[in-house]
Amino acid sequence: MPPSVADINRTIRGAALKAAQETDDAPEPAFSGDFSFPTEITIGPGLDGAIACSTKIGYVNGAKGWLVYRGINCFELAEHSTFEETAYLLLFGKLPTQAELTHFSSRLIQYRKIDPLALEVLKVIPVKTAHPMASLCVAISALGTNDRNAEETTVEAETEIAIRLIAQVATLTAAIARLRQGHDPVPQDSTLSHAANFLYMMTGHKPTPLEEKTMDVALILHADHGMNASTFTAMVTNSSLTDMYSTIAAGMTSLKGPLHGGANEKALRQIEEIGSVDEVERWFERMRAKKAKIMGFGHRVYKAYDPRARIFKPLADLLTREHKEVRPFFEIAQKLEEVLVERLGEEKKIFPNVDFYSGVIYKAMGIETPLFTPIFAVSRVAGWSARVLEYLADNRIFRPRAVYTGPTRVAYTPVSQR
Ligand code: SDX
Repeated sequence: MPPSVADINRTIRGAALKAAQETDDAPEPAFSGDFSFPTEITIGPGLDGAIACSTKIGYVNGAKGWLVYRGINCFELAEHSTFEETAYLLLFGKLPTQAELTHFSSRLIQYRKIDPLALEVLKVIPVKTAHPMASLCVAISALGTNDRNAEETTVEAETEIAIRLIAQVATLTAAIARLRQGHDPVPQDSTLSHAANFLYMMTGHKPTPLEEKTMDVALILHADHGMNASTFTAMVTNSSLTDMYSTIAAGMTSLKGPLHGGANEKALRQIEEIGSVDEVERWFERMRAKKAKIMGFGHRVYKAYDPRARIFKPLADLLTREHKEVRPFFEIAQKLEEVLVERLGEEKKIFPNVDFYSGVIYKAMGIETPLFTPIFAVSRVAGWSARVLEYLADNRIFRPRAVYTGPTRVAYTPVSQR
C-alpha cells in the first residue's frame, strides 16, 4: 500500500523525537537573546562568525540542530502547517487567524496567473537548454520591467511585491518546467493550495494528498535559514534601495551555486554517478583522494545533524519503499551517508544537509533533476522577502571592507614598454 499523509506526519514526529534525544543537552551558542551594536566578535574568511544585523524571523542553532521560524520549531511546522501559513508567519511575525489566512491565500491566488510578458521572454530564450535557475532569474526580472510600482521602496509597497513574487516564482518555475518539455504552461487552478497548484501547473495532473503534503513539507523546510549566502545577497542588494524584483533575482543567482542551493541537483547527480551501493566506498575514496567536496554534506552553521535532513531522510525512505526505480537512489544515498559520517562525522562534524535527501524525494515525485534548485527558490522567496522587509524598516546600506594587501606606489608603464 502507498504511504499516507498520516505516515508522513508520523515520520516527522519520529524525526523530532530523535533530534530532541540527541541534541537537547548541547550548550546554547553565544549571541542568542538581546543584542545591540556595536559588538566585538571574531570573524573568519567568508564572513564566518560576522554579525550583520539582528532579526526576529528565524533562528538556526547549529549545536543543537534547531531550526525555528518566529519561535516555532520546523518539526511542528512541517507536521501541522502549510506553505501559505508559514510564509505568512515569516512575513508578518505570527500565525494568521483563519480570516487572515484566507485573505493572504486569496492574494497569492490572484497573483498566480502567468504573466504574459514573462512568458514571452521565456519563449525567446533557449529555455529547453538553459539552466532553469537562469531562466527563472530572467523571468523574474522581466516581471519587474512591467510593474509601475517597482521602484517604490516603502515597506508597504515592497510587501505587496513580495506577495506577488511568492506566487510568481512558483508559477514561473512551473511554466519553465512545461516549456522545457515542449508543453504549454498549465493555467492555475484557484481551488488548489499553493503546493498542490504548483505541482499541478508543473505536471498538468491534480496531485494526490500525499504529493501535496510532501511538497508542502519541502516548501516549509526550505523557507528560511538565517544569513545564508542567498539571503545575505538579497539583503545586500535591497539595502541600496533597489527594487524588490532585482533583490529576489539577486537571491536566486546566489542560490543557484553548487555550494548553496545548487547542491541538491549535484547531490542527485553524484548518486547517479555512483550507480550502486557496492560502488559507494570506492567512489568515496576516489573523491577523498581528489580532496573533492561531497555534495549535500557539511554546513557552516550545523555541527549537529541538519533538522531538515532528519525529516527528509525518513521521508525519502517512506516515499521510495515501493518505488522500484527510485529506491536504489535512496539506498546509495543512505550508504554514502554511513561511509561519510563514519570517516568525517566525529572529526569534522560533517553530516547530510538539507540538499542531500531532498532530491531523492523530488525524484520519487517524478520531477526532473534540473528543477530541484528552482523548487528551493519557490520556497526561499518567502524567507528572502521576510528578511529584506525586516531590514528595510531600519535600513542601512551594507558596506564591509577588504584589507588591501597589494602595492601602493607602482608607476604607470605605457603600453609600448610592457
Ligand atoms: C545550503 O548557509 C545556509 O544556511 C545554507 C543552507 C540554507 O538553507 O540556506 O542550509 C542551504 O546551502 C546547504 C549546503 C549545500 N552545499 C553543499 O552541500 C556543498 C558541499 N558542502 C560544502 O562545500 C560545505 O560544507 C559548505 C559550503 C556547505 C560549508 O562550507 P564552509 O563552512 O566554508 O566549510 P569548509 O569548506 O571550510 O569546510 C570545513 C572543513 C574542510 O576540511 P579542512 O580543510 O578543515 O580539512 O570540512 C571539510 C572541508 O574540506 N568539508 C567537507 C565537506 N564540507 C566541508 N569535506 C568533504 N565534503 C564536504 N561536503
